[in-house]
Amino acid sequence: MSDIGKSVNQFIVEEQRAHPASTGDLTGLLNDIVSACKKISHLVSRSNIIGLGGYADSENVQGETQKKLDIITNEVMVDHLKWTGHLAAMASEEIEEIIQIPSKFPKGKYLICFDPLDGSSNIDINLSVGTIFSILRCPNDCKNPTLKDFMQKGTEQVCAGFTVYGPATMLILTTGNGVNGFTLDSDVGEFILTHPNMRIPKDTAEFAINMSNQRFWEAPVQKYVEECMKGLEGDREKNFNMRWVASMVAEVYRVLTRGGIFMYPIDSKIAKQGGKLRLMYEANPMSFIVEQAGGVSSTGTERILDIQPESIHQRVPVIMGSKNEVDRVVRYHQET
Ligand code: AHG
Ligand code: MN
Ligand code: MN
Ligand code: MN
Repeated sequence: MSDIGKSVNQFIVEEQRAHPASTGDLTGLLNDIVSACKKISHLVSRSNIIGLGGYADSENVQGETQKKLDIITNEVMVDHLKWTGHLAAMASEEIEEIIQIPSKFPKGKYLICFDPLDGSSNIDINLSVGTIFSILRCPNDCKNPTLKDFMQKGTEQVCAGFTVYGPATMLILTTGNGVNGFTLDSDVGEFILTHPNMRIPKDTAEFAINMSNQRFWEAPVQKYVEECMKGLEGDREKNFNMRWVASMVAEVYRVLTRGGIFMYPIDSKIAKQGGKLRLMYEANPMSFIVEQAGGVSSTGTERILDIQPESIHQRVPVIMGSKNEVDRVVRYHQET
């Protein structure tokens, strides 16, 4: 029987039953995240009506001027997750230090890293944005979690997911057993399984990169993109199309749906900070999802999931998507 049409709650409970030793904690945590994302979806769609458009007067640890919605969506995530007893601590793009669970609430065995609103520069032009999250086990007794407990490689993730608040609100999820996509039926307030077992085609003729940074790129990426641009008139066997939404959630969703390669490589402008995208709540969860869907994710020189993190807001170069194209870019890095 087809799984299409199941609610995400049923899907998660059934996945839990397939692992008899599980305690139900992850199921509970995922349900809390789903609730937070439904609230955020509602807020994003009503932001102009309720006065949540535009900038706040504050900067985050990234040096970005925060949008009002960056702040509010961060609060929604924290408020939905702090009291439930499933988490030992949290980390967010918008908060410099790790976020402790208030002492009046019980602590759980998981850690979460999240980007409450990805692509927030697109909010005021009504393009897709989303929420990204990564779940890790808290390695020690979980009583007094520290930054060190978060410093786990992406291979240690228990679960990763993201939402896209677009024409439809979508939730994409992996617990290490493939990737499934759910669509929010806003009439009944439930995410419904619409995209079971998502697979990224090995080949693609579509690339995504911010071309305005071209003069700052390193030689391997210069070579790859130049070839794509020349297509059949150069060394490639096909012509390429290009997309750049400037929302990682929208780009990765596109790659999961019809293939593609998404790149935010290192360039001389951002070399000092290590890259643009953040390892713990952007690159790692998206790499876990991409690999689980049959794709590849690399910095150009290293598998992203194998990076030993050194700080919570660490940035890394990102090259992910269809296997044969990512492998080609990695090969160009090895050759130079
Ligand atoms: P965020 O809005 O969470 O800060 O992340 C934005 C990220 C990512 O979603 C996107 O791929 C990239 O920044 C866009 O960067 P440019 O504006 O440099 O193209
Ligand atoms: Mn930001
Ligand atoms: Mn982001
Ligand atoms: Mn963000």
